[in-house]
Amino acid sequence: MPIVPVKTSNTRYDVHIGSGLLRTLHLRLRKLTPGKTPKLFIITSPEIWGLWAQRFLVSFPASRQPIVLFLPRGEAAKRLSSVERLADELHRCGADRDSLLLAFGGGVVGDLTGFLAAIYMRGIQYVGIPSTFLAQVDSSLGGKTGVNLAHGKNLIGSFHHPLTVFSDSDLLQTLPPRELRAGLQESIKAGVIRDPKLFSLMERDAESALAADPKTLEKVITASVRMKAEVVRLDEREGGLRMVLNYGHTVGHAIEAATHYRKLLHGEAVAWGMIAANRIALHRGLITEKISSRIDSLILRYGPLPALRLNAETLAALTAGDKKNRSGVRRFILPNKIGSTKTVTDVSETELLRGICEMLAMAKNPPQAGSTAK
Ligand SMILES: NC(=O)c1ccc[n+]([C@@H]2O[C@H](COP(=O)([O-])OP(=O)(O)OC[C@H]3O[C@@H](n4cnc5c(N)ncnc54)[C@H](O)[C@@H]3O)[C@@H](O)[C@H]2O)c1
Ligand SMILES: [Zn+2]
Repeated sequence: MPIVPVKTSNTRYDVHIGSGLLRTLHLRLRKLTPGKTPKLFIITSPEIWGLWAQRFLVSFPASRQPIVLFLPRGEAAKRLSSVERLADELHRCGADRDSLLLAFGGGVVGDLTGFLAAIYMRGIQYVGIPSTFLAQVDSSLGGKTGVNLAHGKNLIGSFHHPLTVFSDSDLLQTLPPRELRAGLQESIKAGVIRDPKLFSLMERDAESALAADPKTLEKVITASVRMKAEVVRLDEREGGLRMVLNYGHTVGHAIEAATHYRKLLHGEAVAWGMIAANRIALHRGLITEKISSRIDSLILRYGPLPALRLNAETLAALTAGDKKNRSGVRRFILPNKIGSTKTVTDVSETELLRGICEMLAMAKNPPQAGSTAK
């Protein structure tokens, strides 16, 4: 079973990837906290718990049953008010500095639980048990935790790494197909920015990945996690290199904001954002027509993506608000071949508008499932 270490200057932890991890969860947790019996708290949403409670608890003896606390499903619950309510519940249930939180869910549960762990009694430990594809390949590692403000995503937060991550690929069997496809776009991103082998694997095995074949997903998850772990090791606090993870995200975040975070899943917005970035890279001569259409085809293959009917000027203006911008300079991560990118700070308004317009032309009537070129 693959284990990918994440190392930073302050910490080191493992991401375990594979099928059947839940069956041995209690034993694995005991090994992580030798000589201690911390109180265990699961933070999850009622829907996920409804599907997985029995299988989650199967390894826990009656004397060591964790306490379960709930966060309502969805991005709207990722707020400070939920953190305060859960902190109150933890306190009422006797959580102390040695208690261990188990973040069992997608990126919303993971980001919020990590943040709760970062500030409860000035910091306690947590373990990630991500249950969406996006959380398994991206949000569960790297230490970024946080919640949203009314007018901006992830604007409150802190760096707090988990003690370990257990990515059980069995969990993906109940994931809605659209969530899986959107998450797979983050793996396409991983391939384009740093891993040509992953990119080729996703081209070759698209059909089995989209059919949620466990072996294929395990390979894609492992490669994506390796890529992110490597970037985080080299640049934990986003001083430079970590920004490559933002490929497709500048325009992607603008699309999410323009559609009020309702119409598209994050990965779908990033997919259109990557296509816009490819157009800009193409017109700058950074990539060839052949490479750009190879990347676009793969992105569309993992669709269908929702159609967009947005105004290019509005989107361009929204990119100015991106959190990754520094001192008013827009940063773009553009591919210069498959597996490598360039950070560019001088994309002009005209270039940006052209890239967005060309992407929007494709996004008016995107290909439907099964109709894209393989
Ligand atoms: N910290 C980071 O580095 C980082 C990186 C990327 C994204 N994020 C954050 O992650 C969040 C998005 O995460 P997400 O895409 O996982 O969304 P999510 O957590 O909202 O989960 C998506 C949906 O899937 C359901 N679900 C989860 N697991 C399931 C399962 N096994 N079976 C059936 N249904 C299941 C959830 O109830 C939810 O309705 C955003 O808030 C984003 O900001 C954080
Ligand atoms: Zn993302």
